[in-house]
Amino acid sequence: MKPYVQMFSIHGLIRAENMELGRDADTGGQIKYVVELGQHLSRRDDIGRIDLFTRLIGDKSVSSDYAAAVETVNPKFRIVRIQCGGRKYIRKERLWPHLDEFVDKTIKYIKRHNQMPDVVHGHYPDAGYVAMQLSHFFGMPFVYTGHSLGRSKLQKLMADGMRHRDIQKKYKIDQRIEVEENILAHADLVITSTHQERETQYDSYHHHDVPEYAVIPPGIDIDKFYPSYHDKLSDSSPSENAMFAQASMLQALNRFFMNPEKPMILALCRPDKRKNISGLVRAYGEDLELQAMANLAIFAGIRKDIDTMEDNERDVLTRMLLLMDKYDLYGKMAIPKKHDFEYEVPALYRIAAESRGVFINPALTEPFGLTLLEASATGLPIVATNDGGPNDIMTNCANGILVDATDPTAIAAALRKIIADPAVWEDYSKNGILNVRKHYTWQSHAAAYAGAVGRLTARSDADDMATAVPTDRVGRRLIDLNAFVFTDIDNTLIGEDNSELEALMDVLQANRRCTGFGVASGRSLEAVKTILNRHKIPTPDIIVASVGSEIYYGPRLQYGQGWAAHIGKRWNREKILKLLEDLDFLDYQDEEGAQRKFKISYYMKPQKDRLAQIHSRLLQHKCRYNLIYSHDKYLDILPYRASKGKAIRYISYKWEIPLRHFLVCGDSGNDEEMLRGEPLAVVVGNYSNELEALRGSRKVFFARKSCAGGILEGIQHYHFIAKAQGHCREHSK
Ligand code: GLC
Ligand code: MG
Repeated sequence: MKPYVQMFSIHGLIRAENMELGRDADTGGQIKYVVELGQHLSRRDDIGRIDLFTRLIGDKSVSSDYAAAVETVNPKFRIVRIQCGGRKYIRKERLWPHLDEFVDKTIKYIKRHNQMPDVVHGHYPDAGYVAMQLSHFFGMPFVYTGHSLGRSKLQKLMADGMRHRDIQKKYKIDQRIEVEENILAHADLVITSTHQERETQYDSYHHHDVPEYAVIPPGIDIDKFYPSYHDKLSDSSPSENAMFAQASMLQALNRFFMNPEKPMILALCRPDKRKNISGLVRAYGEDLELQAMANLAIFAGIRKDIDTMEDNERDVLTRMLLLMDKYDLYGKMAIPKKHDFEYEVPALYRIAAESRGVFINPALTEPFGLTLLEASATGLPIVATNDGGPNDIMTNCANGILVDATDPTAIAAALRKIIADPAVWEDYSKNGILNVRKHYTWQSHAAAYAGAVGRLTARSDADDMATAVPTDRVGRRLIDLNAFVFTDIDNTLIGEDNSELEALMDVLQANRRCTGFGVASGRSLEAVKTILNRHKIPTPDIIVASVGSEIYYGPRLQYGQGWAAHIGKRWNREKILKLLEDLDFLDYQDEEGAQRKFKISYYMKPQKDRLAQIHSRLLQHKCRYNLIYSHDKYLDILPYRASKGKAIRYISYKWEIPLRHFLVCGDSGNDEEMLRGEPLAVVVGNYSNELEALRGSRKVFFARKSCAGGILEGIQHYHFIAKAQGHCREHSK
């Protein structure tokens, strides 16, 4: 089998052409990595297809390219954009509340296209969460790449003196770490780019030992990052684009340099504190000998107006300018404001190599180090921090010097050593060119990746439960279904008259293939389980519990996280409790399971004006809620988006089963909403008064018999089984 891989990389701006790398903190190396990974995988014969899912952004402040729902990169590789949390471009830290929307819409996409991925792969914790949810539903293997880790980030920021509270506020770091823990507890395979990442970074997570790991170093495009002698020796001359880029980069540099013929020390990174640009300027600024030997060029992202940039970036750039001034580096140091990644960056490396310069990555920690590889591929020796990615690179390539990046004199000494000694320079240059081609090409990366994914899918084919965490694959059943019987439990499915319960269950069981079975109850999940067990009713496909405030899927009763995220909006349980505290006609339900995160329940005897009093109090205080009064005694207050009816509408939406394919049965006031509208409704014979209002409505059938007998009557009345079989065929076509 050739696997169909769904990759997820949600934040940032992703498109296949003209990537806007370095535009902001969310548009870094990951963007480029996922697109190139998709491209190279799609060229392999052993990969079926790749879809890269990202967020759809329709926002005037960014290109309209990001608003296209599908971008076909090649016949085997597409970028699919899914909208969540509106259409505005927002920072990744603000995406957390919207990820479940992303999950739901991806499920709809899968259903609509009728093709189940063989593997899901999430990049970064936000997309990791989405891929994990999908694998919970469908049971396909789940691959994860962290790109960076929350715990490491937290440690670094704390070491910088930032307080935990501020880190939490700005980066939502606690939530991120919690999700990462959860991901590690469920992933089948975690891909890291270095050994250090696996050994000393993932190490700090409680669940770090659960998944398997594969160290697959990143690959680079050697057709783009070639040494400058290619231009001279090969028959084909460089493209016009490449020559133009070289000329314009030289021009950009020459505006700064007094002696442009000197070797050039090149740094290229986002203006981020952790990249330690100030350490580099200090190293250069304090070493007069080094200044005499070489120029320094720093390309720190793209900028127009520093004043309007984010705090971190503005601080870094301001600091850089002040240090340049302090050490009086005019004429020796270049700080161009922009560069493109397609042609100009490769040209820059070659210009620096031609000048017999050095590439420096002064970051204090470096998990990845893609720029180091690119520079090395063009024959530019490197100096980098003695950490993570650079460690592996140096082991494989032996093409430079690792330093303690916190020590400016060590940085300067390493730079001097390489520039001053032509033999050393030659050696490093050649090693870089040859060894990058041996260890870090996209071809070798894609081959290792395809191998790992192939092993995973072969295993999950061989054994249905082969994923690290077994799942019941309930999603696969739900995606195949196209009709549902949904029923209330108390006094509808089960009540005083259970004479036809067995007959009903037999009908449902016999037609299981085309008809899903769901219950929607005021009971808590535990109480639902108890009563169903007592009557030997098999676990339904879906349980809507606690008056619609909770949804559970499949035999393993998987919690409907998407629903929780949806209804949680503007819900303030504590506030409502407080506001109603002194109403003595309200009797707080204290049975086990009655009070839930999204449900407040009281007993209340009916009396004129009581309901009005509650409403006016809550409305006065701007509460959003949904109040349901039933059987003349139960009073439930739920989030405004929750109810049994809304839960069924949500299920119809999420699993793409039209509402008119639902048969919905009830007996009382808390069923009323789900009985109205498009679904085929059945009111059982033993209904309570509140439902009298539905009499005469279109698509509401009042059965003569009570309970299960009434449901059976309804099924016959609507010819529901025949219809469900029809929908089933229609669907599988
Ligand atoms: C069930 C629940 C109760 C709720 C009632 C009406 O009896 O246990 O908490 O108030 O249904 O929805
Ligand atoms: Mg009932």
